[in-house]
Amino acid sequence: MFIEVSNLKKSYTTGEIRTEVLKGVSMRLNKGEIGVILGPSGSGKSTLMNIIGGIDHGDSGKVIVEGVEITNLNADKLTDYRRGDIGFVFQFYNLVPNLTVGENIEVVSNISKSPLNIDEVLVAVGISDKKHRFPRELSGGEQQRVAIARAIVKNPKLLLCDEPTGALDYQTSRSILQLLEQVNKKYGTSILMITHNTAIAAMANRVFRLRSGEIVEDSINQMIIPAERIEW
Ligand SMILES: Nc1ncnc2c1ncn2[C@@H]1O[C@H](COP(=O)(O)OP(=O)(O)OP(=O)(O)O)[C@@H](O)[C@H]1O
Ligand SMILES: [Mg+2]
Repeated sequence: MFIEVSNLKKSYTTGEIRTEVLKGVSMRLNKGEIGVILGPSGSGKSTLMNIIGGIDHGDSGKVIVEGVEITNLNADKLTDYRRGDIGFVFQFYNLVPNLTVGENIEVVSNISKSPLNIDEVLVAVGISDKKHRFPRELSGGEQQRVAIARAIVKNPKLLLCDEPTGALDYQTSRSILQLLEQVNKKYGTSILMITHNTAIAAMANRVFRLRSGEIVEDSINQMIIPAERIEW
C-alpha cells in the first residue's frame, strides 16, 4: 500500500468553539494509482491532502507513505519528505510572477535530489515554446501546465492536486486532466486529486467522498474512462 491513512483526526478551536474537521479518516491508495477526493466545500478535503503532503499536521491517527510514517517525522525529515517526494498543484497555480517559466521550474529542480530534465518536462506538458515567458504572458491553462511541470520536475512519488481545474474553462480543464493522466502513465506518478466535479471521478482508480470530515464513500472504479472521453 503506497498511502495508508488510519483514523486521522484534526480539529480547530476558534474562541470557545471546537470544530472537528477530520473525524477519523481512513483511506488507502496503491502506487501508480489515481485517486479522486470528492465532497462539499468545508468537508475537509484540503486539510486531508495537506496532512498527506506534510504541509499540515493532524491531531491523531497515522499517515504512512511508502512505509514511512510521516506523522512521526521531525520538522527536518518532514521538509525532506515534502521536497523530495511530493509535488503540489493548486487551483491558482502559485507561480512566482517575476520569474520566467523556465526559472519557476528551475527553482524546484535546483533543490531536488534527482530532478528530471527541465526541457523534457516542458515538452511533456506541452509548453516547450514558452520557456522564456513570464506567467502573466500565459493563459490560465498554460500557467497550470507550468505549475504541473514545476511539480513533476522533482520526479515526485506523489502528485497532490487541489482543484487543479477549478479556475479553468471546460476545454482547458479537459486538456489538463489529460495531461495529468499522461504524467501518471509516463512517470508512474501516483496522483491524488481533489475536485468538485463528480464527472472527473471516472478517470480515477479509486474514489473517496468526504462529508463533514468523514469518508462516506470509498470505491474502486471498475470501469476507468480515459480523460479524453470524459464530458460534463
Ligand atoms: N486554520 C483554520 N482555522 C479554523 N478552521 C479552519 C482552518 N482551516 C480550515 N478550517 C475549517 O476546516 C474545515 C475544512 O476545511 P478544508 O479547507 O479542508 O475544506 P475543503 O473540503 O477543502 O473545502 P473547499 O472545497 O471549500 O476547498 C472548514 O470548515 C474550514 O472552515
Ligand atoms: Mg479545499
